Amino acid sequence: MAEKEVTETSEAQIAVHWGEENYIYPSMQFIAQANMTDPSVHDRFSLDNFPECFKEYADMLDWYEYWHTTLDTSDAPCWKWFVGGKINASYNCIDRHLPKNKNKTAIHFVPELEDEKIEHITYQELYVRVSEFAALLQDFAGLKKGDRVTLHLPMTAELPISMLACARLGVIHSEVFGGFSAKSCADRIVDSGSNVLVTIDAYYRGGGLLNHKEKADIAVEAAKKEGQIVDKVLVWQRYPGKESSPTPMVEGRDYYINDLLKDYSGKRVDPVRMPAEDPLFLMYTSGTTGKPKGCQHSTGGYLAYVTGTSKYIQDIHPEDVYWCMADIGWITGHSYIVYGPLALCASTVIYEGIPNFPDPGRPWRIAQELDVNIFHTAPTAIRALRKIGPDEPAKYNYHFKHMTTVGEPIEPEVWKWYYKEVGKGEAAIVDTWWQTENGGFLCSTVPALDPMKPGSAGKGVPGIHPIIYDEDGAELGAGAGKAGNICIQNPWPGSFQTIWGDRERYVQQYYERYCKDKNSKDWRDWPYMAGDAAVQAEDGYFRILGRIDDVINVSGHRLGTKEIESAALVVPEVAESAVVPVAHEIKGKEPDLYVSLKPGIEPSDELAARISKSIIDEIGPIAKPRKVWIVSDMPKTRSGKIMRRVLGALSNKTDVGDVMTLANPDVVDEIRKMIQG
Ligand code: WTA
Repeated sequence: MAEKEVTETSEAQIAVHWGEENYIYPSMQFIAQANMTDPSVHDRFSLDNFPECFKEYADMLDWYEYWHTTLDTSDAPCWKWFVGGKINASYNCIDRHLPKNKNKTAIHFVPELEDEKIEHITYQELYVRVSEFAALLQDFAGLKKGDRVTLHLPMTAELPISMLACARLGVIHSEVFGGFSAKSCADRIVDSGSNVLVTIDAYYRGGGLLNHKEKADIAVEAAKKEGQIVDKVLVWQRYPGKESSPTPMVEGRDYYINDLLKDYSGKRVDPVRMPAEDPLFLMYTSGTTGKPKGCQHSTGGYLAYVTGTSKYIQDIHPEDVYWCMADIGWITGHSYIVYGPLALCASTVIYEGIPNFPDPGRPWRIAQELDVNIFHTAPTAIRALRKIGPDEPAKYNYHFKHMTTVGEPIEPEVWKWYYKEVGKGEAAIVDTWWQTENGGFLCSTVPALDPMKPGSAGKGVPGIHPIIYDEDGAELGAGAGKAGNICIQNPWPGSFQTIWGDRERYVQQYYERYCKDKNSKDWRDWPYMAGDAAVQAEDGYFRILGRIDDVINVSGHRLGTKEIESAALVVPEVAESAVVPVAHEIKGKEPDLYVSLKPGIEPSDELAARISKSIIDEIGPIAKPRKVWIVSDMPKTRSGKIMRRVLGALSNKTDVGDVMTLANPDVVDEIRKMIQG
């Protein structure tokens, strides 16, 4: 049995086990102004009222045509929400606000360089820019409803403008995180079948102007080798009219958007009336096998869900200035920088750079300058700011009413610093647990109704009914004191519809494990398995422990171990590779890479550096291993499987357990000496 499942090291196996903390209650001031203060909300969204309860969210939007079926399960487990409804996301995020709020700021764009002016884009200005770019996409690039477009854009206002222009036309956008490599971009171009790429020439990061255009050239060439032709590369300019990248434009393929836009000045495009079930966007994420999967999100269900949760959980009011420090290249940014806040007519902040540029006071200066009152970030950023600037928040005059943490478990100590120093003891905090696949929050407290508990996400948000199963499918209830696989019993409107082009993988990975009847059309037979380990305390709050599969959560970003391992194998000298998560003070986890070499090849620092570089080239700097360990052999089972669990224990300096059943137990000591000195 030692040769079965235990060959893998999961995050959950090395997760820290914190004790349960005491409750902290939101302030009266917060409660007095909160959107959701009615305790009956949990009843309204109970399973008895499912699925009609989600009408409450859909009714926050403007529909061209109302739906006739709230939830259609005929193609289970591909759920269809609000069937028969017609809607446009761009209209809901822009046009519907114009009559009353056209002069209100929709987007505050904060450039990384502090002496560059902040750009305040009103809803009217957003309307003009989105319409003109939509006209260009339609007319010049020939795009229409259902086509896919890959965006490879960093954190500038052009990113939401591009997304909303696509949404206006019913074109499916697929944004690739700006920090990802050209190769990652190429893979996503190929998988989504995009023949248009929207990029930018350059952007600021850590004080330097990065050349981004060069990635487009490499990506387009790499996609071509895989048979996907990109015929147009549309390039925003970081400084319109000025060339900021040394990479030349390719005649007949590359176009500066700012030049083309001159022909579309004053053009308006009517939003396309989209069936609620048509896809709005794809968002790729790492999974258990090498290939990233394109999570396909719907138009009506997704928008309803992010709008509802933005209102009740983020407590966004139209008069709020809301700053989510995530990158729009991740799902958090799509849902809770762009679609949710804009659907609610708030002002959303987009910051180009890194939080500690030029110093760790920067985020708090931005908050002070813009009167930000809702703040949203990830534990990795909180840990970093706590480490390098613990006393900075107190120096600035800002006041948050509400703060969010998302993306990975947050240590109670770090939570308390966030609460006391960043939130100045005034802000209600929500710890939101969810995933790219989910569209919006799954677990969190409802901030004015439920007390906070540091280190715990809370219960399911309204309409989400989590359940923990053990390996055999038995329920582990509240207070069971044991960790298991957290699942959701019911579908919800924000959920992805399928994996783009791979329904089988969608069913297999998320629904098969605990499915009660594969032929069933009843949603009750299809619990959704998230792939995280969790425990439920007596009070019903969930504590998320980490991934149970081969995914490593680095700084809140999901990296597939297989992706990293295959990137190492690109180096010809490498025979085998294995990646394990290792605990890191700021990033939460970091990948440690073990490689063995082909016969006759000698280890060297140069080779280790080349392997590390290969990972950066293939995936991006976020996947860079902490260390490349070149070992004489991998610890293996007798059937030849690499024992990642043993490597993980060695990297984390924890107990390796019984290794005598291994084919080569001696190698364990050899590796221990090497890495533990
Ligand atoms: C982890 C990010 C603990 C979890 C929105 C999940 C969390 C993965 C939390 C999804 C949280 C996310 N507490 N762990 N509050 N939020 N996670 O797809 O392991 O980038 O499966 O979505 O992050 O990461 P993803």
